[in-house]
Amino acid sequence: MAIILGIESSCDETSASICIDGEIKSNVIANQDIHAIYGGVVPELASRAHQQNIIPTVDQAIAAAKIHKNAIDAVAFTRGPGLLGSLLVGTSFAKSFALAMNIPLIEVNHMQAHILAHFIENPKPTFPFLCLTVSGGHTQIVLIKDYFEMELLGETLDDAAGEAFDKTAKILNLPYPGGPLIDKHATLGNPKAFQLPEPQIADLNFSFSGLKTAILYLVQKEMKSNPHFLEERMNDLCASVQDRIVSILLNKLKKAAKITGVKNIAIAGGVSANSGLRTSLQEMGEKYHWNVFIPKFEYCTDNAAMISIAGYHKYLTQDFVGQDIAPMARMHVS
Ligand code: KG4
Ligand code: ZN
Repeated sequence: MAIILGIESSCDETSASICIDGEIKSNVIANQDIHAIYGGVVPELASRAHQQNIIPTVDQAIAAAKIHKNAIDAVAFTRGPGLLGSLLVGTSFAKSFALAMNIPLIEVNHMQAHILAHFIENPKPTFPFLCLTVSGGHTQIVLIKDYFEMELLGETLDDAAGEAFDKTAKILNLPYPGGPLIDKHATLGNPKAFQLPEPQIADLNFSFSGLKTAILYLVQKEMKSNPHFLEERMNDLCASVQDRIVSILLNKLKKAAKITGVKNIAIAGGVSANSGLRTSLQEMGEKYHWNVFIPKFEYCTDNAAMISIAGYHKYLTQDFVGQDIAPMARMHVS
């Protein structure tokens, strides 16, 4: 039997999870509401909040899994990518815990973990599969050949998809993080109400900065003649923005499937919680006869369940690290 404690602290969520033999027994997430008033994550406040949250979060995860901490076989933690001050809290905790309990330490790449969240529940994807990972910091198309053998096929050249949602939301006067709010308004609006540009980027790379500028100019122009434009057209604006972001993402995914010939297609990361993306991907999957894998909501945004499942798969091959391990703000998926 293998009991793994997973720790996630790369951005503004402190999370701990217990995985027993590949099954998630607990996944506790402490959100940090403090950032909302600043319109984005404030790194210094995030690391301070992680320090306050880490011990109670781990205690809760152990209690919810109904185990004793002495039963834990290894501790897995997010090494990067992420905010260095935030990563340091999780890394230091994991190292101290491993040292005190005399158990092995496992480093996990946050971007790989978002993808490996697909191995939490059934049906699990078979190798090789393609994954569109879309979060607040990343937008990538990755070819997954094995648990830890991944190839980056394309990525964003500027903003990430989550940033496109959040920055647009800011222009629309919606609070941070705006992605979920755009999603909510979009369900009530007309996605074809406003024509927004699709960037002409070659290969499998993405660009979202032009979209943000187009929305800014549209809002500024309309507000001149109608100061109530935002309130009156909020649903249509959100639906149109979401529709364009989703079409940019899925057109590239379609291209990647065509180039590689891979028909197992997954999405991961915070933006994969978006209802428009989930529905459109399902429809596209039916049209092109893909096997589509969409994670449960709680495993889309940052969580430690994905860290403990990734840790479990490293535990099986005894892939451990020493106490000299340090977090890294930048880490590649492959
Ligand atoms: O993966 P994640 O939790 O954290 C990072 O590693 O970045 O992703 C957070 C991002 C934010 O930009 C947030 O606005 C976006 O995911 N997001 C959404 C939705 N839920 C979260 N974007 C669009 N629609 C949603 N329903
Ligand atoms: Zn993430």
